[in-house]
Amino acid sequence: MTPSFDTIISGGTVVTASDTFKADIGIRGGRIVAIADTLTGAAEVIDASGRLVMPGGIDSHVHISQPSGEGVVMADDFDSATRSAAFGGNTTVMPFCFQEQGQSLRDALSWYHGLAEGQCHVDVSFHLIVSDPTPQVLGQELPALAEEGYTSFKMFMTYEGLKLTDRQILETMTAAKLSGARAMIHAENDDAINFLRDQAELAGDTAPKFHALTRPIPVEREATHRAISLAEIADVPLMIVHVSNREAMEEIARARARGLKIYGETCPQYLVLTAEDLDIPQGAKNVCSPPPRDTASQAACWEGIEQGIFDVYSSDHCPFRYDDTAGKKHPMGEKSFRWIPNGIPGVETRLPILFSEGVVKGRISLQRFVALTATNHARLYGLYPRKGTIAIGADADIVLWDPERQMTLSQDILHHGSDYTPYEGFEVTGWPVLTMVRGQVVVRDGTLSTPSTGLHIPREKPQA
Ligand code: URP
Ligand code: ZN
Ligand code: ZN
Ligand code: ZN
Repeated sequence: MTPSFDTIISGGTVVTASDTFKADIGIRGGRIVAIADTLTGAAEVIDASGRLVMPGGIDSHVHISQPSGEGVVMADDFDSATRSAAFGGNTTVMPFCFQEQGQSLRDALSWYHGLAEGQCHVDVSFHLIVSDPTPQVLGQELPALAEEGYTSFKMFMTYEGLKLTDRQILETMTAAKLSGARAMIHAENDDAINFLRDQAELAGDTAPKFHALTRPIPVEREATHRAISLAEIADVPLMIVHVSNREAMEEIARARARGLKIYGETCPQYLVLTAEDLDIPQGAKNVCSPPPRDTASQAACWEGIEQGIFDVYSSDHCPFRYDDTAGKKHPMGEKSFRWIPNGIPGVETRLPILFSEGVVKGRISLQRFVALTATNHARLYGLYPRKGTIAIGADADIVLWDPERQMTLSQDILHHGSDYTPYEGFEVTGWPVLTMVRGQVVVRDGTLSTPSTGLHIPREKPQA
């Protein structure tokens, strides 16, 4: 007799964004085909007793193999980034395809697809970064690519070579509206940053901590307010990524109260790091933008996690090596914070940090954990219901979670290409013990199965 299922996950506690219940899960052809009290008849039965059975993490904000200035390369390629993601309980990551000045989006995409093809241990789905919004890009490429499943893109208000003017943002948002794609924005006031940075350097204030001091909260609050105003003028929903503090959150809350569709994302660094983590001997390791703030901002971001200002919790994984070069992530990193590449690794530690600090400490429910780490990402970026939930017909993208396992986060146990973790020594309770992508076990008990089976997943247009 042929078995009914390829795999049964048996005896676990299933968690979705709306429910927690005991059930067996039957998988066939990479999809979930049965959910019932007891199932039998499979080629493989995975014992999940004592485990939570959750939708695999979807990390909708990761940077992989993106160029980052002269001589500095990101520490992860698609192999290492997606391996690290899998060990961290993720089944899909959404990296950025970065358009260089003068480049077409198609050329940018074929470059990134070339890097990713055959290398990925989990599924991937690209966002675009629009840095050169020519009439051709906005009028032809974005609409065509949205039809092909590239249904989201990020705009930047800061960084040379990436930042858009307000007019360009309005034009690009309008293209999002016409093509049905999701607009995302990095909100920091570039002129204010440059002004403060030049003043700091003139005063000889060049240590890593001045990265945070020259990007104070008003820099982010003002840009968040402006981005939302531009979205209101263009009449388009907008995702504000990597929100770090209460004042930016209040801009989002006020916009929602006016009836605008504004979504919010925060990241682990804003929940557990502060600007003091840049004021240590190796402070360059923790340089990212926006910078981590203070304990009041941490508390505010937790409120946003608990109460719903934040729809998604992502890593903003943007890995560099600290010791590669003469100085601190960059050959000139020792000279001034100006040269330290912005970004920290975090795709593997994202879920354990939220589970431990959020669920175990009683701040959020298991359902909210799943919503923030998987389901809402799928909904907001057009992957739902294929991904982001445990339901009949969905891809069998599943993480088995040991809610009691205690671990100390440390570079030694991680699988990314960075040579450090910002969370060295951080203690967590709860750990992913098995990661399955479309029915195939990718990581089990700390071991990676080969070969790589991750695919690029085209997406639907998000519903508003
Ligand atoms: O510092 C950060 N966040 N680097 C990554 C690029 C970005 O702005 O998301
Ligand atoms: Zn590999
Ligand atoms: Zn950003
Ligand atoms: Zn980012």
